[in-house]
Amino acid sequence: MTRRVRLIGIGSGSLDQLTGEARAALASVDYVVAAAKHRHPGGSLPPGDSDPPHKDPLLAVRQALCDAAGVALVEVPDPPRDRDPRDYGAAVRDWHEARAAAYERVLLERPGDVGFLVWGDPSLYDSTIRVVEQVLERGRLDFDYDVLPGLAAPQLLAARHRIVLHEVGQPVLITTGRRLAEAVAEGHPNIVVMLDGSLAARDLPAPDRWRIWWSANLGTPAEELVSGPLGGVLAQIDRARERARNASGWVMETYLLRCLEDAEA
Ligand SMILES: C[S@@+](CC[C@H](N)C(=O)[O-])C[C@H]1O[C@@H](n2cnc3c(N)ncnc32)[C@H](O)[C@@H]1O
Repeated sequence: MTRRVRLIGIGSGSLDQLTGEARAALASVDYVVAAAKHRHPGGSLPPGDSDPPHKDPLLAVRQALCDAAGVALVEVPDPPRDRDPRDYGAAVRDWHEARAAAYERVLLERPGDVGFLVWGDPSLYDSTIRVVEQVLERGRLDFDYDVLPGLAAPQLLAARHRIVLHEVGQPVLITTGRRLAEAVAEGHPNIVVMLDGSLAARDLPAPDRWRIWWSANLGTPAEELVSGPLGGVLAQIDRARERARNASGWVMETYLLRCLEDAEA
């Protein structure tokens, strides 16, 4: 039988966020492979250190899911990544290639069906599908893979705030904090922002033109929600972010910005 690799979306990592098919997929694999982002130089665990001071909290979430399913988790030290490269595209390609080589090593060493637990949904700001494709392209392994969807952060954001991400018939753009200014300049009326650790919305030139629905650590006990006119809620967001960080040891933010057309005058 052909070996199977399963990319399983896990939402924000709690058991009740897993879909039925994701649970079944997790239970079906022989082991799960997970990148360990320890913050030691070189991005790897020091030899013999079983409880490092900066253990990746998101790895602990994956470990808990594996424990609940009775499936072994194999940690792979995440290759180092240049966070401030001159050529962003090349740096990401190198990092994906290094990840593909690391995953290939584990899959060659350990037979059986393999799961990758992908934060949120594999379709949004996640490289697991690309990296698994690269493992196949390297030509040393043969397997089928499938993708099980999970709850993505923008879906959780909308549900928790009880909103639709756009007005009737309007488009919505999903982008990153780095590209927010560009999206605003292009005139997008509804913008979901991810991967923004420093609230790029703070620097928008006319905050009164925007309403924000902000969230942190959705789907966890430390979840935080703030909404209101952008200019009026920045301090509240800063306090909420610190509460989420202190409670979880990590913070991830997603927000919707909507242009208030009648405020343009
Ligand atoms: C690397 S991307 C992964 C996105 C993920 N694949 C998804 O479908 O949500 C990480 C970003 O997703 C968003 N995110 C992920 N989990 C979140 C959560 N629990 N609460 C709020 N935002 C979250 C944040 O914008 C974070 O910077």
